[in-house]
Amino acid sequence: WRQHAPFIERINRLKKQRNAVILAHNYMSPEIFHGVADIVGDSLALAKRAAETDADVIVMAGVHFMAETAKLLNPDKIVLMPDMDAGCSLAESIRPEDIRLLREAYPDAPVVTYVNTSAAVKAESDICCTSGNAVEVVESLGAERVLCLPDEYLAAWVATQTKVKILTWKGHCEVHERFTPDEIRRFRRAYDDLVVIAHPECPPEVIAAADFAGSTAKMIDYVRDEKPARVLMITECSMSDNIAAASPTTDFVRPCIMCPHMKKISLPKILHALETLEPRVEVDPAVAARARLAVERMIAVGR
Ligand code: 13P
Ligand code: SF4
Repeated sequence: WRQHAPFIERINRLKKQRNAVILAHNYMSPEIFHGVADIVGDSLALAKRAAETDADVIVMAGVHFMAETAKLLNPDKIVLMPDMDAGCSLAESIRPEDIRLLREAYPDAPVVTYVNTSAAVKAESDICCTSGNAVEVVESLGAERVLCLPDEYLAAWVATQTKVKILTWKGHCEVHERFTPDEIRRFRRAYDDLVVIAHPECPPEVIAAADFAGSTAKMIDYVRDEKPARVLMITECSMSDNIAAASPTTDFVRPCIMCPHMKKISLPKILHALETLEPRVEVDPAVAARARLAVERMIAVGR
């Protein structure tokens, strides 16, 4: 923390001067999560909070699609992305033209896209979802079958939670696809009191080997509420680091995989963004208008 302190102090001072808010995803490193973030959460919470803010400047401590979502909801505000190269394998896996072709093949199936997509893909969608509300979103449509894109594994998990027929795509999260059920079994053999909680972006056999599956916020709530003696969180490394101090009675077993995109965001880059008010995320207004509808429809579900 000693090396982080000068950055934290300067960022927090500049944030006030700029009337800026820092939204940070649960995968940010602890010095960002605890040191400078105003709002932390899963993708759903960040989208909702971005829609509510009255700050002039939004700094997205997360990946590019999250900053785009914030910009869609706040076209007149400055949205800063500390590193424009912080992408996402899921967002890379599908293009707007893929959705247009899928619509031709399945004209009766509404298109639900994961927020982990570009604004251009959202613009082709009926509604967005996150891992925190995917089942509710799918069921809100009243359709017999739904295209749930682009995450094959999230879609497979949704299919286990609903009677709606789920069609999908072959996108994967490069972090969660690497966990295996064998790894879980090895840890269970080592610790007989182990509780395993997994993110729904994991392969189905990993989720089947876990005790609970949910979005990053739901995983955090699970640990806070259930207070397991020992937990293995099948997700990005920073999750356990960020919540360990608040759960002193839980022992965190920590094999983890880092998201190289999330880890591009650092305190010096956040400071630079606040100093220069760059780099800014912009979305073509015609695309933004259609993409915003899909995000707003999602936010309205469950209200
Ligand atoms: P949630 O925080 O919405 O669960 O998503 C996880 C993720 O991988 C975001 O990139
Ligand atoms: Fe994308 Fe996976 Fe990284 Fe999240 S953890 S940003 S889904 S690659």
